[in-house]
Parts: sequence; C-alpha cells; structure tokens
Amino acid sequence: MKKVAFDQVLNKYKEVLPNGVFLTTKDDQEINTMTMGWGTTGFIWNQDILMVPVRKSRHTHQLIENSKYFTVSVPLNGQLKKELQFCGTKSGRDYNKIKELNLELAEVKECDVPIIKGNDLHFICKIKYQQDMLLKNLAEDVSEKNYSNQDMHTFYYGEVVAVYKEE
Ligand SMILES: Cc1cc2nc3c(=O)[nH]c(=O)nc-3n(C[C@H](O)[C@H](O)[C@H](O)COP(=O)(O)O)c2cc1C
Repeated sequence: MKKVAFDQVLNKYKEVLPNGVFLTTKDDQEINTMTMGWGTTGFIWNQDILMVPVRKSRHTHQLIENSKYFTVSVPLNGQLKKELQFCGTKSGRDYNKIKELNLELAEVKECDVPIIKGNDLHFICKIKYQQDMLLKNLAEDVSEKNYSNQDMHTFYYGEVVAVYKEE
C-alpha cells in the first residue's frame, strides 16, 4: 500500500461514492462495515475532512458513537458489488458481515479500525466533530424525499489522517 495525497483522489471518490463505499467502524472488539453512498469532502480547521452521514437507525451509528476513528474503503473499478449490496441491506445487529462475506481486513498504524482489502483507496479518519441533523433546519423538498420517517443522519466529520492506495 502506498500513501497518496487527499487532493489527488477527491474527484475519483466523488465519482464512485453514489455506487457505494465501505464505512468501517469498531467498538471494543466488534468490527462492522456498512455501505455508504453519500458524504462530503472538504477543508476546515486547517484539516482535510471527510464527512460521513449515518442514520440513527444503523448499527454503525451505535458503534461510531463509541469510537474516535472510522475508515472508508473505496472500490474504484466496480469490484465488490455483491459485498456492497449485502453491507447496504443487512445490519451488523443481525449478521457478522465481515465473516459472512469473508472480507479480508488489514490493520493500519494510525488507529485500531481496520480497512477492507480488495478496495483501491482507503481513508483513515479521526473524528473531530459530530452533528445531529435537525428536521426544522432542513429544506422541505429534501425532508419530504429523504426523512419522511424522521430517521435523521448524524454527520461525523473526520480528519483525514492518511489515504492509502492499494497497488
Ligand atoms: C448504495 C447504498 C448507499 C447507502 N448509503 C448510506 C448512507 O450514506 N448513510 C446511511 O446511514 N445508510 C446508507 N445506506 C444504508 C446502510 O448501508 C444499510 O442500512 C446497512 O444495512 C446499515 O448497516 P448497519 O446496521 O450494520 O450499520 C446505503 C445503502 C446502499 C445500498
């Protein structure tokens, strides 16, 4: 694995994000991953930032609440479709998705949350801020389309402490 600059991979990340990427969390000894199709990238507090939106109903929400880090693993070439589908429809409450899919994990030196091998890019992120969405602050069209059940997202802002490219 080779370290690459955040700026160098932003366009590619944005391009493939709607197809799904793996958001991996760990609390104590439990590791879980879910498919994520939304998010933002940016620069604030003089830091490179990846924001991940997690609805409160997700098992991931429970885990990330107890963690200082998350990782995002990104397939750039259409691989791992079956795995993204599974991780985007099944909950870690009901399945050990890592075992079920035989996902190969790799440790990173920055934190104890692993990355998922077989992806092209990996972001290692340290949580710096989190914010619960408030329905009252949301435009009506977005609210009607996405939050009719009031299952709001929490936005987790992670400083991108490393970006790795698999070779
Ligand atoms: C393509 C795709 C994108 C998704 N994007 C998000 C997302 O950005 N945020 C979110 O909370 N859930 C998203 N989901 C839904 C979760 O992946 C799904 O509810 C998953 O089962 C949650 O797993 P967990 O309960 O183990 O956390 C997406 C699902 C798919 C298929």
